Amino acid sequence: MNRIARIASLGHYLPSRVVTNDDLAALMNTSDEWIRERTGIQERRFVDDDMGCTDLGVEAARQALAKAEWDVTDVDFIVFATLSPDLYFPGNAVLLQDRLGMREVGALDIRTQCTGFVYGLATADAYIRMGLADRVLVVGAEVHSRGLRLTDEGRDTAVIFGDGAGAACVEVADEEGPSRILSHSLHGEGKHAGELCIVKPGSADSPYVSAEQIEAGLMAPHMNGREVFRHAVTRFPEAIMEVLEAAGLGLDDLKVLVPHQANLRITEMVGKRLGLGPERVISNIERRGNTTAASIPIAFSEAVDEGRIERGDLVCLAAFGAGFTWGANLLRY
Ligand code: COA
Repeated sequence: MNRIARIASLGHYLPSRVVTNDDLAALMNTSDEWIRERTGIQERRFVDDDMGCTDLGVEAARQALAKAEWDVTDVDFIVFATLSPDLYFPGNAVLLQDRLGMREVGALDIRTQCTGFVYGLATADAYIRMGLADRVLVVGAEVHSRGLRLTDEGRDTAVIFGDGAGAACVEVADEEGPSRILSHSLHGEGKHAGELCIVKPGSADSPYVSAEQIEAGLMAPHMNGREVFRHAVTRFPEAIMEVLEAAGLGLDDLKVLVPHQANLRITEMVGKRLGLGPERVISNIERRGNTTAASIPIAFSEAVDEGRIERGDLVCLAAFGAGFTWGANLLRY
């Protein structure tokens, strides 16, 4: 018998503090009009001082576990995707394992930034298919707000990113059932690593990090926005077509696309290129900002809660981000 996997449930968590574009304009030389026009973002959430990335992941995971009716002891593997971990090492997956009181299960961190959840779901599916696990918890969470430069120097990236977490319970599935994970496409092209990155602390050269480097902003994200945009609008459609072709399906079969919420203009251009109207493309960036590894599970979870995605619907998840990395998952929810 072939082992297959499915998403049993989703959960998400957003910190309560709403940060509007006007709030940012009070800190740096930007405006609500500029941010809305270039990114579509109206507001995002930032954590308060007492909350960290694992904390967000714990809340999203609790919600997903409750919806799947799993006990924490049912989980036999954890995948945690983030670019803003609590510690440089160890990764957030073990911190989450401890916080939730789980068994001493495998705990893997994924570092593919905006594509983190797509890689994480592919990993969970592969582990389940191989028989390495039956019930995998996949989490994507980010605390960007602490790493951004909320100043004129950092304004090109500071206005884009937000905090949040999403989670999925992924389990071995009944072959006769309506839901299953179908196919994946995963890519990377490291020659573009410098276009979107955080340079320090880093072991590539000396010093590992210095006060001068911190002052120069090397611990904050650096982004060549135009290059990111140019590559994203071709890589998203490529990855989406790859997973559809791998499953022997076409765009007409697709109920909805849940893209990584990079930027509303990217999402709209991808929808247009594929001929998918706004009713078939999930977007929440207006209220959530870009939450990197958390953006797909938050948008997916919200869409399920709102009734836009139902059991058995054909759903494509797709992402592009730093690395560059990009990819997609195709599934029947
Ligand atoms: N507020 C006001 N002005 C800003 C600004 C801000 N927050 N950030 C940059 N600017 C200025 C620039 O300094 C520049 O000024 P200049 O013309 O005087 O030099 C001007 O706006 C245009 O900058 P540019 O970078 O050319 O703008 P753009 O049209 O490329 O838009 C992005 C910038 C970042 C919105 C756009 O490139 C983009 O969306 N890229 C994709 C980024 C993305 O999705 N990242 C997530 C990856 S997963």
